[in-house]
Amino acid sequence: MIRFNNVSFAYEGSEELAVRNINLHIDKGEFVGIIGPSGAGKSTLVSLINGVIPHFHRGDYYGEVLVCGKDTLESTCGEISRHVGSVFQDPEAQMVTTVVEDEIAFGLENFNVPAGEIEKRITESLKMVGIEHLRHRGTAALSGGQKQRVTIAAAIALRPEILVLDEPTSELDPQGSRQVFQTLKRLNQEYGMTILIVEQKVMLLSEFCSRLMVMEKGQIILDGPVRQVLEHHDKLLELGINCPRVVTLTKLLKDASLYDGDIPVDVDEAEQVVRKILEGAYDQHTAFDLSLR
Ligand SMILES: Nc1ncnc2c1ncn2[C@@H]1O[C@H](COP(=O)(O)OP(=O)(O)O)[C@@H](O)[C@H]1O
Ligand SMILES: [Mg+2]
Repeated sequence: MIRFNNVSFAYEGSEELAVRNINLHIDKGEFVGIIGPSGAGKSTLVSLINGVIPHFHRGDYYGEVLVCGKDTLESTCGEISRHVGSVFQDPEAQMVTTVVEDEIAFGLENFNVPAGEIEKRITESLKMVGIEHLRHRGTAALSGGQKQRVTIAAAIALRPEILVLDEPTSELDPQGSRQVFQTLKRLNQEYGMTILIVEQKVMLLSEFCSRLMVMEKGQIILDGPVRQVLEHHDKLLELGINCPRVVTLTKLLKDASLYDGDIPVDVDEAEQVVRKILEGAYDQHTAFDLSLR
């Protein structure tokens, strides 16, 4: 679905590369999370996928990006948007109309989706992100979190093969953020939508994504299945990435030689780990008791 061959990019007027020598391959149906400190190149990477680079940002561009087999340099942004839906970091910059339902309809009309189908998709996508009640509201008066949900609904309504989201939950509370991830999971599972999400909330990434990429200074420094990447606990901490508490706990247990299995990615799995250790301790204890008798 997505392939980067030795891609580097420097924004016009900047001497430093925003991303450097990126080689990347993402298959259909992957659900990829991207984390990293500010300035690491996460947004630049996303812009290279949806064609914002090189079509809107000028600069020095090296290598090639293939989306659905086509070089983005040789496609127009319109052509790329047939395959790639985008949710940008700043919802304001993305909104083009003044009423919520028009915002969803806009892209659909551009894609010549029939009127009856547009109606269906508006209802469905608003419902998916939990904002049916905002349908007829003006966009200007919405909160930041509501605007984020509108841009997510607009992107989802187009049912793209690939969806890229750049910090789409930055203004949502924990419950709202979780709801967005649940919606993405559904799209990923039901439609096989390929999803790439830049996100600061590691706990959500580790729970929902199948693959995690960590960026630092324009490069992808870790890339793999979530559990494998979370093993690099110390590196993540060094980058200022707050590991989920279940990962920190497991790390402590491993350091104390009490556990050497896979890293749990949610509280239920962590509970199983702790239970096993306690049961083991209990068995040892009773064995000791018995030997005394
Ligand atoms: N429009 C731009 N013009 C010039 N430099 C930019 C622009 N956008 C980002 N950069 C620079 O590119 C680097 C990577 O930025 P970015 O991709 O936005 O990182 P992240 O999303 O990880 O915070 C940073 O050094 C940033 O200052
Ligand atoms: Mg960014």
